[in-house]
Amino acid sequence: MTDQTEQGYFTEENSADVVISRNAKASDARLAQVMDSITRHLHAMVKEVEPTQEEWLKAITFLTETGHKSDDWRQEFILLSDVLGVSMLVDAINNRKPSGASESTVLGPFHVPDAPERPMGSNICLDGKGERMLVKGRILDTNGAPVTGAKIDVWQTNDDGFYDVQQKGIQPDFNFRGVFRTGDDGAYWFWGAKPRSYPIPDDGPVGQLLGSLGRHPYRPAHLHYIIEAAGFETLVTHIFDPDDEYVHSDAVFGVKESLMAEFVHVADADRIAKVQAEGPFFEVTHDFVLAAET
Ligand code: BEZ
Ligand code: FE
Repeated sequence: MTDQTEQGYFTEENSADVVISRNAKASDARLAQVMDSITRHLHAMVKEVEPTQEEWLKAITFLTETGHKSDDWRQEFILLSDVLGVSMLVDAINNRKPSGASESTVLGPFHVPDAPERPMGSNICLDGKGERMLVKGRILDTNGAPVTGAKIDVWQTNDDGFYDVQQKGIQPDFNFRGVFRTGDDGAYWFWGAKPRSYPIPDDGPVGQLLGSLGRHPYRPAHLHYIIEAAGFETLVTHIFDPDDEYVHSDAVFGVKESLMAEFVHVADADRIAKVQAEGPFFEVTHDFVLAAET
């Protein structure tokens, strides 16, 4: 007996309608909406491109290899979503901020949830490599008032362009990671090393795809932040070096104009003495403005 929901036999013309009608009894309305949209867009793409059987098999093989490359440590599908700009689009849709609040960007795969809490002013550079950098600023609300008790979780690569978790046994554990908590003035400051641009993991199918598309795998130099405070939306963001050669071509589209920081080279003897540095250093001053929880 023909099901009431069937739209007739499958043809090239009505392909999407037939598939969508087959899903009419889905119990989850959101799943049905998602499958409806995926089916329409995918069928429209296939009709536009008209792949050969060999080309379609190549696409299936690419996805299969992307799965094989993924494990608990390596998530090649997230990397695919990143280089397609989809991670940034999902981030933008879910983080529409009020005017004046700092903008978000991608979390990336290298956050570690249990980084040590360190006293304000600590040095997160545990391997002694790189150009010394002082990072400071304030955590504010959208009225400009300091946020007390904000938790600031920061991480960056070392001077060789790798996160500690990419070089276990080579870098000290928690190298270039730290959690800091603001006092009544909302101020934060810590020492690190001037970040460098580095390639996203490109030894898998996503790296091969980038190569075939004539794209490089680099991210411009940046520092990662997660800033949390009671009564405020959590901010997941970066600051970027505006002079980095990849700032206009980030492999994962994470750069935003408002996230540029100034990396000022300090060679003045008085300033060096005042912050008790051993010599010249880079100084980055950047405030973050948190949006109130709604
Ligand atoms: C990162 O900045 O750590 C990152 C973001 C997306 C993909 C790979 C790395
Ligand atoms: Fe990063």
